[in-house]
Amino acid sequence: MNAKTVTLTDNETGKQIELEVLEPTIGPPTINISSLYKDMGFFTFDPGFMSTASCESAITYMCGETGVLAYRGYPIEQLAKNSNYLETCYLLFYGELPYNKAFNEFTDMICQHTMIHEALKKFYDGFRRDAHPMAIMVGVTGALSAFYNDHCDIRNSYDREVVAHRLIAKMPTIAAWSYRYANGLPFVYPDASLNYTENFLHMMFSVPSKPYKVKPIHAKALDLIMLLHADHEQNASTSTVRLSGSSEANPYAAVAAGIATLWGPAHGGANEAVIQMLQDIVNSDNSISDYVKRAKDKNDTFRLMGFGHRVYKTYDPRAKLIREVCHEILEHHSGDTQLEKILDVAMTLEKIALEDEYFISRNLYPNVDFYSGIIFLAIGIPMNMFTVIFSMSRTIGWISHWNEMMQADQLRIGRPRQLYTGKPIRSYPEAKE
Ligand code: CMC
Repeated sequence: MNAKTVTLTDNETGKQIELEVLEPTIGPPTINISSLYKDMGFFTFDPGFMSTASCESAITYMCGETGVLAYRGYPIEQLAKNSNYLETCYLLFYGELPYNKAFNEFTDMICQHTMIHEALKKFYDGFRRDAHPMAIMVGVTGALSAFYNDHCDIRNSYDREVVAHRLIAKMPTIAAWSYRYANGLPFVYPDASLNYTENFLHMMFSVPSKPYKVKPIHAKALDLIMLLHADHEQNASTSTVRLSGSSEANPYAAVAAGIATLWGPAHGGANEAVIQMLQDIVNSDNSISDYVKRAKDKNDTFRLMGFGHRVYKTYDPRAKLIREVCHEILEHHSGDTQLEKILDVAMTLEKIALEDEYFISRNLYPNVDFYSGIIFLAIGIPMNMFTVIFSMSRTIGWISHWNEMMQADQLRIGRPRQLYTGKPIRSYPEAKE
């Protein structure tokens, strides 16, 4: 059977070209336009990649219309129920769930790599105390390239595995230390007797002067949030890591570029912005409806943070799961009036927006960031650390995509073209006046 094609006709010259239609396992058929310029002399124009598949990938599937998100074929609802963050890291990177022995070996390997080079510790001292922890994350993760330049042959699959293990293991240490530094607290070394998430909370919150015990409900909620943030196919930060990696750049530096991209409020920075907005509403004399009115006003730049998504045109499946945990954790923290007020405002806002024609007609639903910030606050994580935790969780997604790209036999530097709208070629003037 012949492959499906579509025909493109240049109505001016009558020239035609048959373009192959590629069939994904699931998802929309994809027109292969890679020879379009060579065959027809055309570029395609798609700012923001609204209709463009930038690569082939077998890692994560998402459907914006039905609200499906699956890692290596497993829906996140099933992973949330049966798995944990570290097992999900294994799944994303290696493609299959681990059997017990493989998982134990993987866990041991990650444990072995959790420390960071002592000289890298001094790097923190170079930052101002009031630096945003995301700025520290970009700097320190980029600096890993200067400290771990063994096993950096990106064409060698074993070396790529070592890079992945190091990144998964060291990110919680780097992240927790960015918080410790900003708060003038001593750095806490990793504790191999704790699991991945508990160890992160231990490095964030324990102090030498009194014992600290991780609350199981906090570790469970954080682990779930991290699992749900582990990958999201070709989002802005993952695409950044792929693009910088495509030049065969150092992988730690490529991941640092991903962190920088994630920082923006339209991407990973939104959960910080959500809490800021909810706190503003709690403390303001204006009603929730006033904020909704502002969000709908074309002349006002204000947007309801935590609403809308480039791909999901229905309720974000991650938000549904996080919403449940948010209620669970707040039951545990009942009596914390500020938290309860914030949750009340969030629920009222969600209800108003979901019934409002403006939001309905634009398919604007709560996204993953709408509830995650409330959970972070309950755990005691300060706002400027929210995106840091997102970056720590997403590292496995970035490095799995980078590894997949490096394996592909068609690794080519990413080099988009453009629709040039500047001046035509002209001569340098003899006199400039
Ligand atoms: N509040 C009010 N109006 C909105 C919102 C919002 N949060 N989001 C989109 N719109 C309107 C927008 O004004 C536009 O209206 P119109 O058609 O009348 O011009 C329409 O909806 C489409 O918006 P868009 O900006 O073209 O949509 P996009 O796909 O480019 O943007 C988005 C997606 C997530 C950047 C955007 O919805 C947004 O800024 N949301 C708030 C920030 C946020 O929560 N970001 C977290 C995203 S999820 C985390 C992650 O995966 O990284």
